[in-house]
Amino acid sequence: MKWNSAATLALLAPSNVLALLRFPCAQLVIDRLDPLVNPGQAPSPHLHQILGGNAFNTTMDPSKDMPKESTCTSCQFSEDFSNYWTAVLYFKAKNGTYKRVPQIPNSGFEGVNGGMTVYYMQDGLYNFQQTSKVTAFKPGFRMYIGDVNARTKEQMEKFRQLTYTCLENINTRDPQTLDFPTKPCKTGIMTALRFPTCWDGKNLDSPDHMAHMAYPESGTFESGGPCPASHPVRMPQLFYEVIWDTSKFNNKADWPADGSQPFVWSFGDGTGYANHAGDYLFGWQDDSLQRAMDSPCYQNCPTLKTQNAQAMNKCTVKRRVNEDIDSWVKELPGGHQANYRK
Ligand SMILES: *[C@@H]1O[C@H](CO)[C@@H](O)[C@H](O)[C@H]1NC(C)=O
Ligand SMILES: *[C@@H]1O[C@H](CO)[C@@H](O)[C@H](O)[C@H]1NC(C)=O
Repeated sequence: MKWNSAATLALLAPSNVLALLRFPCAQLVIDRLDPLVNPGQAPSPHLHQILGGNAFNTTMDPSKDMPKESTCTSCQFSEDFSNYWTAVLYFKAKNGTYKRVPQIPNSGFEGVNGGMTVYYMQDGLYNFQQTSKVTAFKPGFRMYIGDVNARTKEQMEKFRQLTYTCLENINTRDPQTLDFPTKPCKTGIMTALRFPTCWDGKNLDSPDHMAHMAYPESGTFESGGPCPASHPVRMPQLFYEVIWDTSKFNNKADWPADGSQPFVWSFGDGTGYANHAGDYLFGWQDDSLQRAMDSPCYQNCPTLKTQNAQAMNKCTVKRRVNEDIDSWVKELPGGHQANYRK
């Protein structure tokens, strides 16, 4: 399985004919909250890194007007008050203790505090025209992708496009794997999370936060696969790239004695098959996302307002769950230990 990386191609392509929303969001907060899967719970079962509008809270009522309740966003497009989050990566040393792995910005986004790169695409990565019509997400829309209990390749393959890249340098994009890289990665590990792109046209959410969305009937969004009849509405390809700065954990003397790789997700998965991707709460102001999708633009979109890295970094929220997320710890926040089996 192999697909191409928007980021690599984006750097190579002339900008005037191309269209693609690709932008950084800085860290809003690292906290043990998950208002989509565990609303009202503080702490939620495991630690997350969260980006976007500062209306983010323990509970996010879908009728909440996110742009109105936020006073800032950590994303470059300043009309985007959505919230984006994923689990957090930890390093497990040979002595059994854990340390949180920080994030670094993508190439071209230096100066942004951690966070990740977000894409919204109309067409496959090889079609830079991006002229297809897609329907933007609606207020109250939310979704989730991944399975924290997955520990095998078969379980992982249910999700078509959640991958890892071992970064030799900041622009490395291939090869991509479905589990954690097995050797030290010089610049870090990138996780790439692509959400399903076909909507049932009715539900803004579903009990498992996934059933209202589907993958194309055949192929992928990139290959232009059609949406199934049950989920006929073609939405943008939402896609996260997160770069974990594992470079300071590359001393093999600290790695497990049995030769296995040392990284583990904040809920305990040590295989990587539970690449707990992503949570998404749509929160673009008014019709700004649809406008950007309808008037194709490339990275810096004239139809959208932007802010600089300094303003993005300034937008943070206070942590609500107070626990140590910076020291070497004996167990992961929430009491998890690294595990490799279901
Ligand atoms: C988050 O929710 C709590 C409890 O509902 C509330 O007290 C607090 O003001 C909220 N914080 C923000 C930033 O909205
Ligand atoms: C465990 O190993 C790490 C990495 O070598 C080290 O920084 C840490 O202090 C050690 N912790 C304990 C409790 O020995």
